[in-house]
Amino acid sequence: MIELPKDKSIAQRCAVLKLDFDERFIGEDVKNTLEAANEFAQYSKDLTLNLGNSGTGIRLLTGYIAGSGKKCTLIGDKSLSKRPMRRISDPLNNWGAKISLREDKYPPIEIAESKLQSNFVYELEIPSAQIKSCLLLAALSSKTKIEIIENIPSRDHTERLLQECDAEIFKEGNKIIFDGTKEITKKFIDVPKDFSSAAYLIAANILTNKDIPLEGVGVNKTRTAFLNVLEEMGAKIELHNACTISNEPRADITAKFDTNLKGVSISGQSIPNLIDEIPLIAILAMFAEGKTTIRDAKELRYKESDRISLLLDNMKKFNPNIGLTEFEDGFEIIPSKNHDNDSVDLETGGDHRIIMSFVIAALVTGKKINFDETESVETSFPGFFEVLKAWYL
Ligand code: S3P
Repeated sequence: MIELPKDKSIAQRCAVLKLDFDERFIGEDVKNTLEAANEFAQYSKDLTLNLGNSGTGIRLLTGYIAGSGKKCTLIGDKSLSKRPMRRISDPLNNWGAKISLREDKYPPIEIAESKLQSNFVYELEIPSAQIKSCLLLAALSSKTKIEIIENIPSRDHTERLLQECDAEIFKEGNKIIFDGTKEITKKFIDVPKDFSSAAYLIAANILTNKDIPLEGVGVNKTRTAFLNVLEEMGAKIELHNACTISNEPRADITAKFDTNLKGVSISGQSIPNLIDEIPLIAILAMFAEGKTTIRDAKELRYKESDRISLLLDNMKKFNPNIGLTEFEDGFEIIPSKNHDNDSVDLETGGDHRIIMSFVIAALVTGKKINFDETESVETSFPGFFEVLKAWYL
């Protein structure tokens, strides 16, 4: 059986909420968030928490800590120190927090003592689960009520965990209404395997014509739009042993493909539900027939790297015959079967998803890739290279 890591999004939410879970098979991001949340629990006045590479960790903890009213500084590694934080500090400051950022944009995030007002209403401008979760956690730790208007849905793990812990949270149309004044019940959470990690192996199955099942994977609908894209590209996806544990659906996934992969066009509301899988979709598109277009995905520019420009630069190096057009919010790929290089040097930008995506591409062509580093894969998928070696090479 392939041992996939635990869902990174859910595990980090458990860490911030102080909900117990089995801490085996977790990546560096979850470890950093667990450590920071534990340090915060032993609070001291001059606390500086280091979230490493974890964007989810820093944004969720900022919300939780700002709500607690305590003073704290949050920092991260080189890549995290370049990621935008106004998206969380603006709503929190409008709510009554006192947060300042380096150059008014980036970490370190300095949180001063403050008190949030009650009954805050916020309409999300960016469809981001990190912003939504940051605000829900702030409502919980400040014991206030919040109403969040979410026009484009994003992953709902925080809402589900709060519900699982008997919180008063419900959805009314596009509104999430949460009463943080009520204590939650602390429960053990059985965290499913990470869908976004499984996605690389689903792609590996498809591209190498294997049907190795991936067991106990989280299949929350707000995460699995990648499966719909694969079906549109011509793959056959099957889910078995579906069940819901700790308020999150999970299943065993098998993926096969018996025709040629076809190009796809993706835009609009499905983007947040496959945002982390877009680099991998771009790789699949390189081996498909016909054009693939991705639009409405400007958020990719603010991930661990600028995933649009880095992907395109690396795809061009991987196969110089490919047709590529870059847009501010996406790209277009016209694949080419001619690969006239056997080895290639790629730049990773320290981005785990860029590395793993190109490793999957190399499974098909046998091309040798020299990456400038591969350690960042540990942030989300410890054991990735071992799994590939054991099952796909
Ligand atoms: C995440 C939300 C997404 C995703 C990230 C994890 C989360 O980011 O890209 O990898 O756990 O909430 P945004 O909320 O910025 O869209």
